[in-house]
Amino acid sequence: MELIKNYFFDEGAYDYHDGAYKHLIRPKTKTHKLIIPKVLKADKIEGNTTYYTIHAQEGETNILDGKATHTWGYNGSLLGPLIRYQSGRHYHLTLVNDLPEVTTWHWHGLNIPGPIEDGGPHAPVLPGKSREIEFDVNQPTMTAWLHPHPCPHTAEQVWKGLAAPVAVVNPLDDLPQLPHTWGVDDIPLIFQDRTFHDSQWDYQADYDMDGTLGDTALVNGTVNAEFTVTRPCLRLRVLNGANRRELRLNSDQNIVMTQIASDGGFLPHAVEMTKIMLTNAERAEILLDFSDYKKGGRIVLKADDVPILTLKVGEFTEDNRRQLPKTLKQIERDFTGSPSHQVIMEGMDDSVRINGKLYDMTRIDDRQEIGKNEIWDVSNTNDSMPGMGMIHPFHMHGTEFLVLSRNGKKPYPNEFGFKDTVAVNPGEHVKLLVKFNVPGIFMYHCHILEHEDTGMMAQIEAVDPNNPQHWNLKDLCDKNMPDSNMRM
Ligand code: C2O
Ligand code: CU
Ligand code: CU
Repeated sequence: MELIKNYFFDEGAYDYHDGAYKHLIRPKTKTHKLIIPKVLKADKIEGNTTYYTIHAQEGETNILDGKATHTWGYNGSLLGPLIRYQSGRHYHLTLVNDLPEVTTWHWHGLNIPGPIEDGGPHAPVLPGKSREIEFDVNQPTMTAWLHPHPCPHTAEQVWKGLAAPVAVVNPLDDLPQLPHTWGVDDIPLIFQDRTFHDSQWDYQADYDMDGTLGDTALVNGTVNAEFTVTRPCLRLRVLNGANRRELRLNSDQNIVMTQIASDGGFLPHAVEMTKIMLTNAERAEILLDFSDYKKGGRIVLKADDVPILTLKVGEFTEDNRRQLPKTLKQIERDFTGSPSHQVIMEGMDDSVRINGKLYDMTRIDDRQEIGKNEIWDVSNTNDSMPGMGMIHPFHMHGTEFLVLSRNGKKPYPNEFGFKDTVAVNPGEHVKLLVKFNVPGIFMYHCHILEHEDTGMMAQIEAVDPNNPQHWNLKDLCDKNMPDSNMRM
Protein backbone atom coordinates (compact mmCIF):
# COMPACT_ATOMS: atom_id res chain seq x y z
CA MET A 1 0.00 0.00 0.00
CA GLU A 2 1.32 3.41 -0.93
CA LEU A 3 1.85 5.77 2.01
CA ILE A 4 0.32 9.17 1.28
CA LYS A 5 2.27 12.10 2.65
CA ASN A 6 0.33 15.07 1.35
CA TYR A 7 -3.05 16.69 1.64
CA PHE A 8 -5.03 16.35 -1.55
CA PHE A 9 -6.74 19.69 -1.82
CA ASP A 10 -5.75 22.85 -3.72
CA GLU A 11 -3.22 24.42 -1.43
CA GLY A 12 -3.91 27.93 -2.75
CA ALA A 13 -7.49 27.68 -1.51
CA TYR A 14 -6.68 26.66 2.08
CA ASP A 15 -8.40 28.76 4.72
CA TYR A 16 -5.07 30.18 5.92
CA HIS A 17 -4.76 32.21 2.73
CA ASP A 18 -7.83 34.19 3.77
CA GLY A 19 -6.96 37.72 4.96
CA ALA A 20 -9.11 37.22 8.06
CA TYR A 21 -7.49 33.89 8.94
CA LYS A 22 -6.64 33.43 12.61
CA HIS A 23 -3.75 31.11 13.30
CA LEU A 24 -4.08 28.65 16.12
CA ILE A 25 -1.94 29.54 19.09
CA ARG A 26 -0.08 27.02 21.18
CA PRO A 27 -2.16 26.50 24.32
CA LYS A 28 -0.62 28.03 27.41
CA THR A 29 -2.71 26.06 29.88
CA LYS A 30 -1.50 22.96 31.64
CA THR A 31 -2.38 19.67 29.96
CA HIS A 32 -5.87 18.36 30.55
CA LYS A 33 -7.08 14.80 30.40
CA LEU A 34 -8.96 14.31 27.16
CA ILE A 35 -12.70 14.42 27.83
CA ILE A 36 -14.44 11.29 26.58
CA PRO A 37 -18.17 11.73 26.07
CA LYS A 38 -20.23 9.28 28.13
CA VAL A 39 -22.52 6.86 26.36
CA LEU A 40 -26.17 7.98 26.44
CA LYS A 41 -28.30 5.57 28.47
CA ALA A 42 -31.68 4.53 27.17
CA ASP A 43 -34.72 5.62 29.21
CA LYS A 44 -36.19 2.23 28.47
CA ILE A 45 -36.14 -0.55 25.91
CA GLU A 46 -39.41 -2.11 24.82
CA GLY A 47 -39.17 -4.86 22.24
CA ASN A 48 -37.53 -3.36 19.17
CA THR A 49 -37.85 0.24 20.42
CA THR A 50 -35.24 2.17 22.36
CA TYR A 51 -36.23 5.41 24.12
CA TYR A 52 -33.79 8.27 24.54
CA THR A 53 -34.21 11.75 26.00
CA ILE A 54 -31.92 14.57 24.94
CA HIS A 55 -31.94 17.96 26.63
CA ALA A 56 -30.32 20.99 25.03
CA GLN A 57 -29.13 23.02 27.98
CA GLU A 58 -26.87 25.78 29.29
CA GLY A 59 -24.08 25.26 31.79
CA GLU A 60 -20.61 26.07 33.00
CA THR A 61 -17.54 24.07 31.95
CA ASN A 62 -14.01 24.16 33.33
CA ILE A 63 -12.07 24.36 30.10
CA LEU A 64 -9.17 26.62 31.04
CA ASP A 65 -7.26 26.41 34.29
CA GLY A 66 -9.09 29.31 35.89
CA LYS A 67 -12.64 30.55 35.51
CA ALA A 68 -15.38 28.32 34.10
CA THR A 69 -16.72 29.02 30.61
CA HIS A 70 -20.42 29.49 29.98
CA THR A 71 -21.31 26.81 27.43
CA TRP A 72 -24.19 24.88 25.89
CA GLY A 73 -24.49 21.13 25.61
CA TYR A 74 -26.70 18.07 25.29
CA ASN A 75 -27.48 16.38 28.63
CA GLY A 76 -24.50 18.21 30.06
CA SER A 77 -22.78 21.56 29.89
CA LEU A 78 -20.70 21.06 26.73
CA LEU A 79 -21.02 18.91 23.58
CA GLY A 80 -22.94 15.74 24.44
CA PRO A 81 -22.91 12.02 25.07
CA LEU A 82 -22.24 9.36 22.46
CA ILE A 83 -25.61 8.38 21.03
CA ARG A 84 -25.59 4.80 19.82
CA TYR A 85 -27.96 3.42 17.23
CA GLN A 86 -28.24 -0.12 16.08
CA SER A 87 -29.37 -0.62 12.52
CA GLY A 88 -32.65 -2.48 12.33
CA ARG A 89 -34.03 -0.96 15.53
CA HIS A 90 -36.73 1.61 16.10
CA TYR A 91 -35.99 4.72 18.17
CA HIS A 92 -38.22 7.06 20.10
CA LEU A 93 -36.62 10.33 21.11
CA THR A 94 -37.79 13.05 23.43
CA LEU A 95 -36.03 16.29 22.55
CA VAL A 96 -36.24 18.87 25.31
CA ASN A 97 -35.27 22.48 24.82
CA ASP A 98 -33.98 23.97 28.08
CA LEU A 99 -32.25 26.80 26.23
CA PRO A 100 -33.47 30.40 26.15
CA GLU A 101 -34.08 30.20 22.38
CA VAL A 102 -35.42 28.00 19.58
CA THR A 103 -33.29 25.05 18.53
CA THR A 104 -33.51 21.83 16.47
CA TRP A 105 -31.85 18.40 16.65
CA HIS A 106 -30.27 17.51 13.32
CA TRP A 107 -28.89 14.00 12.83
CA HIS A 108 -26.03 14.65 10.44
CA GLY A 109 -25.39 11.33 8.70
CA LEU A 110 -28.57 9.50 9.72
CA ASN A 111 -30.73 8.63 6.76
CA ILE A 112 -34.11 9.17 8.38
CA PRO A 113 -37.18 10.98 6.99
CA GLY A 114 -37.16 14.76 6.68
CA PRO A 115 -37.82 17.47 7.42
CA ILE A 116 -39.12 16.74 10.95
CA GLU A 117 -37.16 13.67 12.13
CA ASP A 118 -34.04 14.86 10.27
CA GLY A 119 -34.23 17.99 12.40
CA GLY A 120 -33.54 20.78 9.95
CA PRO A 121 -35.00 24.28 10.30
CA HIS A 122 -38.56 22.97 9.79
CA ALA A 123 -38.45 21.12 13.10
CA PRO A 124 -37.90 23.79 15.76
CA VAL A 125 -38.52 23.25 19.45
CA LEU A 126 -39.41 26.37 21.40
CA PRO A 127 -37.66 27.21 24.67
CA GLY A 128 -39.18 25.24 27.53
CA LYS A 129 -40.91 22.88 25.09
CA SER A 130 -40.18 19.42 23.78
CA ARG A 131 -40.82 17.31 20.72
CA GLU A 132 -41.08 13.56 20.32
CA ILE A 133 -39.85 11.88 17.18
CA GLU A 134 -39.65 8.26 16.09
CA PHE A 135 -37.68 6.61 13.34
CA ASP A 136 -36.12 3.37 12.17
CA VAL A 137 -32.37 3.23 11.69
CA ASN A 138 -31.38 1.25 8.62
CA GLN A 139 -27.87 1.95 7.47
CA PRO A 140 -24.30 0.72 7.64
CA THR A 141 -21.91 1.04 10.56
CA MET A 142 -20.70 4.65 10.67
CA THR A 143 -19.86 7.68 12.78
CA ALA A 144 -22.34 10.53 12.51
CA TRP A 145 -23.13 13.49 14.72
CA LEU A 146 -25.86 15.56 16.22
CA HIS A 147 -25.98 19.34 15.98
CA PRO A 148 -28.59 22.12 15.97
CA HIS A 149 -29.95 23.47 12.68
CA PRO A 150 -32.23 26.44 13.40
CA CYS A 151 -31.72 28.63 10.41
CA PRO A 152 -30.09 31.18 10.65
CA HIS A 153 -28.64 30.41 14.11
CA THR A 154 -26.90 27.09 13.47
CA ALA A 155 -23.39 28.53 13.58
CA GLU A 156 -23.90 30.40 16.84
CA GLN A 157 -25.48 27.42 18.62
CA VAL A 158 -22.74 25.07 17.51
CA TRP A 159 -20.18 27.66 18.61
CA LYS A 160 -21.76 27.74 22.07
CA GLY A 161 -21.15 24.01 22.37
CA LEU A 162 -24.02 22.02 20.85
CA ALA A 163 -22.63 18.95 19.06
CA ALA A 164 -22.54 15.28 20.00
CA PRO A 165 -21.03 12.12 18.55
CA VAL A 166 -23.31 9.45 17.08
CA ALA A 167 -22.36 5.89 16.19
CA VAL A 168 -24.41 3.48 14.12
CA VAL A 169 -23.65 -0.22 14.30
CA ASN A 170 -24.95 -2.61 11.69
CA PRO A 171 -24.02 -6.25 12.30
CA LEU A 172 -24.22 -6.87 8.54
CA ASP A 173 -21.15 -4.82 7.67
CA ASP A 174 -19.48 -4.23 11.00
CA LEU A 175 -15.88 -5.32 11.45
CA PRO A 176 -15.73 -6.89 14.91
CA GLN A 177 -11.92 -7.05 14.62
CA LEU A 178 -11.77 -3.30 15.16
CA PRO A 179 -11.18 -1.78 18.57
CA HIS A 180 -14.62 -1.31 20.14
CA THR A 181 -14.05 -0.34 23.75
CA TRP A 182 -15.36 3.20 24.02
CA GLY A 183 -13.00 5.50 25.86
CA VAL A 184 -10.18 2.93 25.89
CA ASP A 185 -9.25 1.98 22.32
CA ASP A 186 -12.18 3.57 20.50
CA ILE A 187 -12.28 7.32 21.08
CA PRO A 188 -13.74 10.39 19.40
CA LEU A 189 -11.63 13.32 18.27
CA ILE A 190 -14.06 16.20 17.84
CA PHE A 191 -11.98 19.09 16.57
CA GLN A 192 -13.16 22.67 17.14
CA ASP A 193 -11.66 26.13 17.63
CA ARG A 194 -12.72 28.98 19.89
CA THR A 195 -11.33 32.27 21.13
CA PHE A 196 -11.50 32.88 24.88
CA HIS A 197 -12.41 36.37 26.10
CA ASP A 198 -11.61 36.35 29.79
CA SER A 199 -12.44 32.61 29.74
CA GLN A 200 -15.70 33.16 27.84
CA TRP A 201 -16.79 32.55 24.26
CA ASP A 202 -18.29 35.51 22.44
CA TYR A 203 -19.74 34.55 19.09
CA GLN A 204 -20.75 38.09 18.13
CA ALA A 205 -17.27 39.43 18.86
CA ASP A 206 -15.57 36.76 16.76
CA TYR A 207 -18.21 36.50 14.04
CA ASP A 208 -16.97 36.36 10.46
CA MET A 209 -19.46 36.02 7.64
CA ASP A 210 -16.99 33.86 5.73
CA GLY A 211 -16.74 31.48 8.68
CA THR A 212 -15.91 32.16 12.30
CA LEU A 213 -12.50 31.08 13.54
CA GLY A 214 -11.08 30.80 17.03
CA ASP A 215 -7.42 30.87 18.00
CA THR A 216 -7.52 27.92 20.42
CA ALA A 217 -8.02 24.32 19.37
CA LEU A 218 -10.25 22.03 21.38
CA VAL A 219 -10.60 18.27 21.18
CA ASN A 220 -13.87 17.00 22.69
CA GLY A 221 -14.02 20.34 24.49
CA THR A 222 -10.53 19.86 25.97
CA VAL A 223 -7.73 22.41 25.56
CA ASN A 224 -4.19 21.00 25.52
CA ALA A 225 -5.55 17.47 25.70
CA GLU A 226 -3.68 14.35 26.70
CA PHE A 227 -4.81 10.73 26.42
CA THR A 228 -3.09 7.63 27.77
CA VAL A 229 -2.91 4.80 25.26
CA THR A 230 -3.31 1.40 26.94
CA ARG A 231 -3.74 -0.86 23.93
CA PRO A 232 -1.46 -1.00 20.90
CA CYS A 233 -4.20 -0.25 18.38
CA LEU A 234 -6.13 2.98 18.79
CA ARG A 235 -9.26 3.77 16.78
CA LEU A 236 -9.92 7.49 16.48
CA ARG A 237 -13.25 8.74 15.19
CA VAL A 238 -12.19 12.14 13.87
CA LEU A 239 -14.84 14.79 13.23
CA ASN A 240 -14.14 18.29 12.05
CA GLY A 241 -16.77 19.98 14.21
CA ALA A 242 -15.43 23.50 13.60
CA ASN A 243 -17.60 26.23 12.09
CA ARG A 244 -15.05 27.08 9.43
CA ARG A 245 -11.54 25.89 10.18
CA GLU A 246 -10.14 23.15 7.98
CA LEU A 247 -8.51 20.39 10.00
CA ARG A 248 -5.14 19.45 8.57
CA LEU A 249 -4.26 16.60 10.91
CA ASN A 250 -0.68 15.39 11.21
CA SER A 251 1.73 14.40 13.96
CA ASP A 252 5.18 15.25 15.24
CA GLN A 253 6.49 11.82 14.24
CA ASN A 254 4.54 11.35 11.05
CA ILE A 255 2.83 8.32 12.51
CA VAL A 256 0.90 6.36 9.90
CA MET A 257 -2.81 7.02 10.16
CA THR A 258 -4.71 4.17 8.57
CA GLN A 259 -8.06 5.50 7.45
CA ILE A 260 -10.71 2.79 7.49
CA ALA A 261 -13.92 4.80 7.25
CA SER A 262 -15.20 8.12 5.95
CA ASP A 263 -18.48 9.94 6.70
CA GLY A 264 -20.79 7.11 5.62
CA GLY A 265 -18.93 4.06 6.86
CA PHE A 266 -16.07 1.80 5.88
CA LEU A 267 -13.90 2.46 2.86
CA PRO A 268 -13.52 -0.38 0.36
CA HIS A 269 -9.82 -0.51 1.30
CA ALA A 270 -7.82 1.09 4.08
CA VAL A 271 -5.67 4.09 3.10
CA GLU A 272 -2.40 4.90 4.86
CA MET A 273 -1.56 8.55 5.35
CA THR A 274 0.61 10.77 7.48
CA LYS A 275 -1.57 13.82 6.79
CA ILE A 276 -5.34 14.03 6.51
CA MET A 277 -7.40 17.09 5.74
CA LEU A 278 -11.03 17.17 6.82
CA THR A 279 -13.27 20.11 6.00
CA ASN A 280 -16.20 21.05 8.21
CA ALA A 281 -18.46 18.12 9.13
CA GLU A 282 -16.29 15.50 7.40
CA ARG A 283 -15.37 12.42 9.42
CA ALA A 284 -12.57 9.89 9.20
CA GLU A 285 -12.02 6.82 11.31
CA ILE A 286 -8.35 6.10 11.65
CA LEU A 287 -6.25 3.44 13.32
CA LEU A 288 -2.92 4.23 14.96
CA ASP A 289 -0.47 1.44 15.77
CA PHE A 290 1.54 1.94 18.95
CA SER A 291 3.11 -1.50 19.11
CA ASP A 292 6.59 -0.09 18.41
CA TYR A 293 6.26 2.45 21.20
CA LYS A 294 7.37 1.83 24.74
CA LYS A 295 5.75 3.01 27.93
CA GLY A 296 6.44 6.72 28.35
CA GLY A 297 6.60 7.33 24.62
CA ARG A 298 4.36 9.95 23.11
CA ILE A 299 2.95 11.15 19.85
CA VAL A 300 1.62 14.64 19.43
CA LEU A 301 -1.27 15.08 17.01
CA LYS A 302 -1.32 18.50 15.42
CA ALA A 303 -3.66 20.71 13.46
CA ASP A 304 -1.35 22.38 10.94
CA ASP A 305 1.64 23.02 13.19
CA VAL A 306 -0.13 23.37 16.54
CA PRO A 307 -0.41 20.47 19.03
CA ILE A 308 -4.00 19.46 19.77
CA LEU A 309 -3.72 16.07 21.46
CA THR A 310 -0.83 14.24 23.09
CA LEU A 311 -1.09 10.47 22.99
CA LYS A 312 0.99 9.16 25.88
CA VAL A 313 1.85 5.50 25.82
CA GLY A 314 1.02 3.73 29.07
CA GLU A 315 1.09 0.08 30.05
CA PHE A 316 -0.55 -2.12 27.42
CA THR A 317 -3.27 -4.09 29.17
CA GLU A 318 -4.33 -6.20 26.21
CA ASP A 319 -3.19 -6.85 22.66
CA ASN A 320 -6.10 -5.63 20.55
CA ARG A 321 -4.39 -5.85 17.16
CA ARG A 322 -6.36 -7.99 14.72
CA GLN A 323 -5.85 -8.71 11.08
CA LEU A 324 -8.29 -6.70 8.97
CA PRO A 325 -9.76 -8.13 5.76
CA LYS A 326 -8.19 -6.77 2.57
CA THR A 327 -11.57 -5.53 1.46
CA LEU A 328 -13.28 -3.72 4.29
CA LYS A 329 -16.49 -3.26 2.35
CA GLN A 330 -17.74 -4.12 -1.12
CA ILE A 331 -18.85 -0.96 -2.85
CA GLU A 332 -20.25 -1.01 -6.37
CA ARG A 333 -19.13 2.22 -8.02
CA ASP A 334 -19.30 1.46 -11.69
CA PHE A 335 -21.76 4.14 -12.75
CA THR A 336 -21.78 6.18 -15.89
CA GLY A 337 -24.26 8.64 -17.24
CA SER A 338 -24.80 12.32 -17.28
CA PRO A 339 -25.71 14.44 -14.31
CA SER A 340 -29.39 15.21 -13.85
CA HIS A 341 -28.88 17.59 -10.92
CA GLN A 342 -26.68 20.62 -10.73
CA VAL A 343 -25.41 22.57 -7.76
CA ILE A 344 -23.30 25.66 -8.35
CA MET A 345 -21.69 27.02 -5.21
CA GLU A 346 -20.62 30.58 -5.74
CA GLY A 347 -19.46 33.64 -3.87
CA MET A 348 -17.89 34.46 -0.56
CA ASP A 349 -19.08 36.56 2.39
CA ASP A 350 -22.58 37.92 1.75
CA SER A 351 -22.52 36.99 -1.92
CA VAL A 352 -22.64 33.22 -1.27
CA ARG A 353 -25.35 31.48 -3.30
CA ILE A 354 -26.41 28.06 -4.50
CA ASN A 355 -27.55 28.12 -8.11
CA GLY A 356 -27.76 31.89 -7.82
CA LYS A 357 -30.22 31.79 -4.93
CA LEU A 358 -30.37 32.24 -1.20
CA TYR A 359 -32.17 29.68 0.93
CA ASP A 360 -35.95 29.86 1.23
CA MET A 361 -37.67 27.47 3.63
CA THR A 362 -40.85 27.49 1.56
CA ARG A 363 -39.18 26.68 -1.77
CA ILE A 364 -38.33 23.20 -2.98
CA ASP A 365 -35.29 23.53 -5.21
CA ASP A 366 -35.00 20.02 -6.57
CA ARG A 367 -36.71 16.62 -6.55
CA GLN A 368 -35.51 13.05 -6.79
CA GLU A 369 -37.34 9.72 -6.49
CA ILE A 370 -36.31 7.49 -3.64
CA GLY A 371 -34.51 4.26 -4.50
CA LYS A 372 -32.99 5.67 -7.71
CA ASN A 373 -29.34 6.42 -8.36
CA GLU A 374 -28.86 9.83 -9.96
CA ILE A 375 -25.75 11.82 -10.76
CA TRP A 376 -25.22 15.25 -9.29
CA ASP A 377 -22.72 17.76 -10.59
CA VAL A 378 -21.52 19.99 -7.76
CA SER A 379 -19.22 22.86 -8.63
CA ASN A 380 -17.48 25.78 -6.98
CA THR A 381 -17.00 28.91 -9.06
CA ASN A 382 -14.63 30.70 -6.64
CA ASP A 383 -11.82 30.56 -9.18
CA SER A 384 -11.78 33.99 -10.77
CA MET A 385 -8.17 34.27 -9.63
CA PRO A 386 -6.21 31.15 -10.50
CA GLY A 387 -4.90 29.24 -7.50
CA MET A 388 -7.12 31.21 -5.12
CA GLY A 389 -10.68 31.27 -3.83
CA MET A 390 -12.05 29.08 -1.08
CA ILE A 391 -12.99 25.47 -0.65
CA HIS A 392 -16.71 24.89 0.09
CA PRO A 393 -17.63 21.67 1.91
CA PHE A 394 -20.86 20.46 0.27
CA HIS A 395 -23.23 18.49 2.50
CA MET A 396 -26.50 16.66 1.82
CA HIS A 397 -29.03 15.55 4.39
CA GLY A 398 -30.92 12.27 4.14
CA THR A 399 -28.39 10.34 2.08
CA GLU A 400 -24.86 9.00 1.88
CA PHE A 401 -23.44 9.44 -1.62
CA LEU A 402 -20.46 8.22 -3.60
CA VAL A 403 -17.92 10.61 -5.08
CA LEU A 404 -17.57 9.55 -8.72
CA SER A 405 -15.03 12.06 -9.97
CA ARG A 406 -13.25 15.38 -9.47
CA ASN A 407 -13.00 17.37 -12.70
CA GLY A 408 -13.36 14.10 -14.58
CA LYS A 409 -10.51 12.47 -12.65
CA LYS A 410 -10.64 9.91 -9.88
CA PRO A 411 -11.68 11.12 -6.43
CA TYR A 412 -9.01 11.34 -3.74
CA PRO A 413 -7.79 7.95 -2.40
CA ASN A 414 -9.83 8.25 0.82
CA GLU A 415 -13.05 9.15 -1.05
CA PHE A 416 -14.01 5.71 -2.31
CA GLY A 417 -16.52 5.07 0.46
CA PHE A 418 -19.88 6.66 1.20
CA LYS A 419 -19.90 10.28 2.28
CA ASP A 420 -22.34 13.04 3.11
CA THR A 421 -19.94 15.95 2.92
CA VAL A 422 -17.42 16.57 0.17
CA ALA A 423 -15.04 19.49 -0.15
CA VAL A 424 -15.11 21.16 -3.55
CA ASN A 425 -12.05 23.11 -4.69
CA PRO A 426 -12.42 26.40 -6.57
CA GLY A 427 -13.06 25.76 -10.26
CA GLU A 428 -13.89 22.13 -9.66
CA HIS A 429 -16.80 19.94 -10.70
CA VAL A 430 -17.39 17.00 -8.37
CA LYS A 431 -19.73 14.29 -9.59
CA LEU A 432 -21.74 12.46 -6.98
CA LEU A 433 -23.90 9.38 -7.16
CA VAL A 434 -26.91 10.10 -4.98
CA LYS A 435 -29.66 7.78 -3.83
CA PHE A 436 -32.30 8.55 -1.21
CA ASN A 437 -33.77 5.63 0.68
CA VAL A 438 -36.26 7.58 2.75
CA PRO A 439 -38.69 10.28 1.60
CA GLY A 440 -38.95 13.85 2.80
CA ILE A 441 -37.60 17.34 2.48
CA PHE A 442 -33.83 17.54 2.96
CA MET A 443 -31.34 20.39 3.01
CA TYR A 444 -28.15 20.55 0.99
CA HIS A 445 -25.66 23.26 1.73
CA CYS A 446 -22.15 24.49 2.34
CA HIS A 447 -21.05 23.27 5.78
CA ILE A 448 -19.09 26.39 6.59
CA LEU A 449 -21.75 27.19 9.14
CA GLU A 450 -21.78 30.94 8.52
CA HIS A 451 -22.26 30.34 4.79
CA GLU A 452 -25.16 28.03 5.59
CA ASP A 453 -26.75 30.62 7.89
CA THR A 454 -26.27 33.35 5.29
CA GLY A 455 -28.31 31.21 2.90
CA MET A 456 -25.87 29.02 0.98
CA MET A 457 -28.44 26.26 1.31
CA ALA A 458 -31.22 24.71 -0.74
CA GLN A 459 -33.66 21.85 -0.29
CA ILE A 460 -34.70 18.76 -2.16
CA GLU A 461 -37.80 16.66 -1.91
CA ALA A 462 -37.04 12.94 -1.96
CA VAL A 463 -40.25 11.56 -3.42
CA ASP A 464 -41.78 8.15 -2.86
CA PRO A 465 -43.85 7.68 -6.04
CA ASN A 466 -45.99 5.01 -4.37
CA ASN A 467 -46.81 7.23 -1.48
CA PRO A 468 -46.58 10.87 -2.55
CA GLN A 469 -46.66 13.39 0.24
CA HIS A 470 -47.95 16.89 -0.18
CA TRP A 471 -45.82 19.34 1.68
CA ASN A 472 -47.28 22.68 2.40
CA LEU A 473 -44.06 24.32 3.46
CA LYS A 474 -45.67 27.66 4.01
CA ASP A 475 -48.07 26.13 6.54
CA LEU A 476 -45.35 24.08 8.14
CA CYS A 477 -43.30 27.23 8.57
CA ASP A 478 -46.20 29.31 9.91
CA LYS A 479 -47.10 26.60 12.37
CA ASN A 480 -43.56 26.07 13.48
CA MET A 481 -42.19 29.54 13.41
CA PRO A 482 -43.70 31.71 16.08
CA ASP A 483 -40.38 33.52 16.35
CA SER A 484 -40.24 35.92 13.48
CA ASN A 485 -36.45 36.11 13.35
CA MET A 486 -36.49 32.46 12.38
CA ARG A 487 -38.15 33.30 9.08
CA MET A 488 -35.98 33.56 6.03
CU1 C2O B 1 -24.39 19.07 9.56
CU2 C2O B 1 -27.41 20.66 7.43
O1 C2O B 1 -25.92 19.81 8.56
CU1 CU C 1 -26.69 17.26 7.92
CU1 CU D 1 -19.06 27.89 1.69
